[in-house]
Amino acid sequence: MSLRTRLILLSSLWILLIVVVFNVSLYFYISASTTLNETKLLWKKAQIILRNPEIHDSSNWTKPELLEDFKEPDMMVRIIAPNRDVVAGISTHVQLSGYPVVFRSNYYTDMVNDFGFRMLFLQVPIYDDDRQIGQLELGKALNVVSEWMKQLGTGLVIATGGVLAFALISGLVYTQIIIRPIRELLESMKAVRRNRTFVTLSPKITSQKDELGKLGQTFNEMIEALREHDEKQKQFVADASHELRTPLTVIESYTSLLRRWGANDPALREEALQAIQAETSRLKGLIQALLRLAELERMEAEISFQPVEAVALMRETAGRLSVAFERDLVVDAADERIVCWGEPEPLKQLFVIVLDNAVKYSRRPVRIRLSRERSEAVIVVKDEGIGIPEADIPHLFERFYRVDKMRHRSSGGTGLGLSIAKQIVERHNGSIRIRSRETRGTEVEIRLPLAEESS
Ligand SMILES: Nc1ncnc2c1ncn2[C@@H]1O[C@H](COP(=O)(O)OP(=O)(O)O)[C@@H](O)[C@H]1O
Ligand SMILES: [Mg+2]
Repeated sequence: MSLRTRLILLSSLWILLIVVVFNVSLYFYISASTTLNETKLLWKKAQIILRNPEIHDSSNWTKPELLEDFKEPDMMVRIIAPNRDVVAGISTHVQLSGYPVVFRSNYYTDMVNDFGFRMLFLQVPIYDDDRQIGQLELGKALNVVSEWMKQLGTGLVIATGGVLAFALISGLVYTQIIIRPIRELLESMKAVRRNRTFVTLSPKITSQKDELGKLGQTFNEMIEALREHDEKQKQFVADASHELRTPLTVIESYTSLLRRWGANDPALREEALQAIQAETSRLKGLIQALLRLAELERMEAEISFQPVEAVALMRETAGRLSVAFERDLVVDAADERIVCWGEPEPLKQLFVIVLDNAVKYSRRPVRIRLSRERSEAVIVVKDEGIGIPEADIPHLFERFYRVDKMRHRSSGGTGLGLSIAKQIVERHNGSIRIRSRETRGTEVEIRLPLAEESS
């Protein structure tokens, strides 16, 4: 069942229920109050009859004029003796006389409903002094009231039907108004899937201030994010294939050079082999970095997080690099116990990336400082190297971005280091910032959340 049908049915049923309850109560209220009025009238009439002293003497009951004055349409008056004999009576409606004879010692009213034809009966005891000598019975056929109630009932049924029809029709109209934007939304979504294009919704939907407008806005934002992601992905594939193709082309051309002239020219052979080796190791580094990036993107958040001793990890990493590059890396910690919340391996990789850059792009000693600031560990790596032009700084974290591609080709950089570093930092809910001045040096500041025990 569609949303629209459900809305129409639900609202119509609800309205129907309200109207039915209202009409039924109205019907019964009117019916009860008219009956009450008729009972009062009948009661008054009985009072008038009983006010005549003759009626309190049973010898007068057979006098025809005793009840004659009370003859009126749709009425019955009769006197019943204790032995249940109808002693005297007048009736102007045949159905009233059919009422079974009863003898009661108290006042009693009775309402008879004979297939919609209603009759009202009233029984009153007749006393002579304190002794009950008989019973006066009055009956009234409620012709007019019955007819009237019938008409009222019909009217109410017709009104109920009318209200139901109105509810259904207005339901059709208002659900059309509500559903139309949802349909449009659905159509746009389908179009996106069918054409694999990034179509956004028209402002007619998104400018609305209601939930649907917000839904539309969210959809557009999602489409925009998808489009950006798609563009980045395409850019990445283009960059990656370019980066991979370059060393392969170099290897390929040196190999054919070797085949042609390598046998006779030892110097050429040596050069070719060296180039091939260099490009191969570059290729290897590139592929490793790419795999690392893919892996970081795939990893679930915070599953294997644990407390990591940042100072110890930094001292160990700096020590290794210092030996490998024969360079001075000075680690200076405000506190030996700065414990981060994270994963040891990626954090170590983060340190290697930043220290590697500092060593690669400078000649003087590199200074590393670790400290604590509120709930964060602050790690600053400072070198006095060639620095980075201001215009390049915003792009440093982009994949494959290198400040001077030709110059760094010889240094074996891939341009992926800092984008991996950024991924790792973001995964740890931290931040990374680079300040630099050309020819003066560079300062990288990393902030990572502390593990609870050390904060
Ligand atoms: N400490 C630094 N000093 C000068 N330039 C740097 C420094 N760190 C990064 N860079 C510049 O940022 C670029 C991107 O760094 P990165 O992503 O690590 O790639 P690469 O593989 O080239 O080192 C580098 O090519 C380099 O030009
Ligand atoms: Mg690097």
